Amino acid sequence: MAQLWGGRFTKATDQLVYDFNASIRFDQKLFHQDVEGSIAHATMLGRQNILTKEETRAIIDGLHGILKDVEEGKLAIDETQEDIHSFVEANLIDRIGDAGKKLHTGRSRNDQVALDMRLYTREQVLHIDSLLKELLTVLLDTMEENLETYMPGFTHLQKAQPTTLAHHYGAYFEMFKRDRLRLKDIYERMNYCPLGAGALAGTTYPLDRGYTASLLGFYGPTLNSMDSVSDRDYLIEFLSALSTIMMHLSRFCEEIIIWNSNEYQFVEIDDAYSTGSSIMPQKKNPDIAELVRGKTGRVYGALMSLLTTMKGIPLAYNKDMQEDKEMAFDAMETVQNCIVLFTGMIRTMKFKKDRMAASAMNGFTNATDAADYLVNKGVPFRDAHGIIGRLVLYCIEKNTSIDALGLDELKSISDIFEDDIYDAVSLKTCVEKRLTIGAPGPEAMKEVIRISREYLAE
Ligand code: ARG
Repeated sequence: MAQLWGGRFTKATDQLVYDFNASIRFDQKLFHQDVEGSIAHATMLGRQNILTKEETRAIIDGLHGILKDVEEGKLAIDETQEDIHSFVEANLIDRIGDAGKKLHTGRSRNDQVALDMRLYTREQVLHIDSLLKELLTVLLDTMEENLETYMPGFTHLQKAQPTTLAHHYGAYFEMFKRDRLRLKDIYERMNYCPLGAGALAGTTYPLDRGYTASLLGFYGPTLNSMDSVSDRDYLIEFLSALSTIMMHLSRFCEEIIIWNSNEYQFVEIDDAYSTGSSIMPQKKNPDIAELVRGKTGRVYGALMSLLTTMKGIPLAYNKDMQEDKEMAFDAMETVQNCIVLFTGMIRTMKFKKDRMAASAMNGFTNATDAADYLVNKGVPFRDAHGIIGRLVLYCIEKNTSIDALGLDELKSISDIFEDDIYDAVSLKTCVEKRLTIGAPGPEAMKEVIRISREYLAE
């Protein structure tokens, strides 16, 4: 047991209580941030003449020494300490003696942990953003190469209208692009420094909070000390953004699992991203896609957990807030791994373009276009809908498709049909004619790809 307090206590803490209260097991993840924040705090204290030059130098050198020793494996984080803040401070005092006891001047662990968690989260926001950017690049490259890779588009998981792989991937491009915008937004809102808020009501020392904030790359100091020590909104927003990223990844995984199934065979997941069965030798399973889909649950869990933890907490700091860490760390790590693995999986995945086109050809994905053909010949849409409905029924009975029927057969349903129907309902025409922006027609897609390239170059 090692702790920073005890003066007003007459008894030692019960060991079980100590263990239950301690957080070093998981908050040691904040080691770098804790040292970085402490260096900034000491620098500011020195500049404000709250510490002497010598004390400031000794503290900063001591902190750099701790950082180096831990990084080089010469110093292990002592898990008998209560938390990472206690570990750093105790070690500093061991190294430099009394000057080390002055580091905590004008600071509380409440604003210290608020800072550490914010620094950690800020880094994660940037890192996940860069992983998403890489995923977007893979998507856009694939889109560019597949402007004429036809496939069925679905509603209700039933074939609906023909589209292209570029168009289908483009939908996910938009989703992950919005995810990045959300991260940017969160960054803008969270990038203010809580250090100097003290326990809850600021301090009587003449701190320069603006200076500390600028040393740590923040836009400025937070403006209310009570809020500073008890705000976890930024983390809730981040977990919410992470949950949305997982929801997008999970939907994409679900599609890949379907595309990879024996029935569809639209894609083949690379051997490096597949796994086998211990009993069925023929199996090659899409485990990575399934795991990403499955891990969505724990990320949602982290969001629900923190929302629930925060909901009844009176101002300002309460120990409940220590519970903001474990699941949040797990969620951040999970999302990082999922994006990296998912990106690798789709980068190496092969498309079976013949199967995809064949699937788009049958299943009457061109029925809307056949109706539009009649409309263009002057038939009111509602009547055209009925005619094509009867035509589809005829095809189902004969086990054939619209484009495989002879002109006489087509004419037996409606004498409006002419020879040009075959071109009108071909896959190529069906896609090419969809040329409004956002649609799968190659010209429209090229424009979207151009805009997207510009966006990625920003
Ligand atoms: N381990 C604590 C946490 O993560 C640090 C802050 C402790 N503050 C306190 N007043 N006990 O929240």
